[in-house]
Amino acid sequence: MSGRPADGGVREPHTLADYAALARAELAPDVWDFIEGGAGRERTLAANEEAFGRVRLRPRVLTGVRRPDTGTRILGRDWAAPVGVAPLAYHTLADPAGEVATARAAGLAGLPLVVSTFAGRTFEDIARAGTAPLWLQVYCFRDREVTRALVERAERAGFEALVLTADAPRLGRRLRDIRNGFRLPEGIAPANLPLPGAGSGPVPGGEAGFASPGGHALAEFDPALDWSVIKWLHSVSSLPVLVKGVLTASDARRALSAGADGIIVSNHGGRQLDGAAATLDALPEIADAVAGARPLLMDGGVRCGGDVLAALALGADAVLLGRPVLHGLAVGQAEGVRRVLDIVVDELKEAMLLTGTATVADAGHRGADGLAGHQ
Ligand code: FNR
Repeated sequence: MSGRPADGGVREPHTLADYAALARAELAPDVWDFIEGGAGRERTLAANEEAFGRVRLRPRVLTGVRRPDTGTRILGRDWAAPVGVAPLAYHTLADPAGEVATARAAGLAGLPLVVSTFAGRTFEDIARAGTAPLWLQVYCFRDREVTRALVERAERAGFEALVLTADAPRLGRRLRDIRNGFRLPEGIAPANLPLPGAGSGPVPGGEAGFASPGGHALAEFDPALDWSVIKWLHSVSSLPVLVKGVLTASDARRALSAGADGIIVSNHGGRQLDGAAATLDALPEIADAVAGARPLLMDGGVRCGGDVLAALALGADAVLLGRPVLHGLAVGQAEGVRRVLDIVVDELKEAMLLTGTATVADAGHRGADGLAGHQ
């Protein structure tokens, strides 16, 4: 055999890119494509990482900063760093322990985990697994009772916030999955949805793949959600509600006036609207609109600690990591996830030290001109 080995020649992983190379060698090609892929021509998928590539950090020297403090506080809880795990369907695709392993790792790292509506392990098992603050990502179904039951179950299990995914009235057109005829492998199914035949059907380009051909009508997303859904979530739960999938200042303002307790700037990792803005590019206008009123998170393309610092400088209070977490899980189970999170936090600490940034708040105060400029 000639050419590059499947693992990219990586022996010991030191970066998130190393973990991606090792995970690729570990996973079946169609599962890899499901995880990595984006919608359409994958322009938005590429743009997320490219946007970080255009940022140049501006160091401040001789500041006397010796031990940067990465700790932060979001919705009344301490996080060891401004980094959480984004909601990702079926961690069980990467390892049978799935979200249980991820929760254990996140807890050890002192970081939160947003659990997908399509988690492959039960909320109760996930909650028992560790000390991480858990949030529930909510897809709203046509049948509101299904959504209500999901929310109530998560709240009973000790989850602390709801993340309403607003950018998926339907699943994006993910061509890799369509071309692969991707199906969830045997034994992978949503563990918290009361659906007959769950998990056995084709996955028409996404995490709604539990809707098997003979599937249940309940499986359908509500395609006609509007801002009143936030009030509805508040009526069925006492948990704070964050809206995920906001990409413009005007929608951020609408979210806040509709009662959202926080905003997550996201384009679903490029898996929904191809051609949508990179999240880092969308972040500054949204940060201006929110003006510190509520926690502002972002995800999409964060691949190192310097990226986290750039996002903080451009107005985020914290970031969420998506695909790299599944890479860690595929390569090394809970230990792999822990390493991925540790690498990002260590790199963040180093970037803070090298830019003379003492605290997470300091990164934000120095702002775009102070800490992060564009090429
Ligand atoms: C996702 N994402 C996602 N989002 C969501 O709200 N609910 C979900 O169930 C899922 N499932 C999911 C599965 C997989 C395999 C991927 C890669 C992504 C989107 C996710 O929360 C996040 O927005 C992006 O993954 C962040 O981008 P990066 O870090 O992957 O570039």
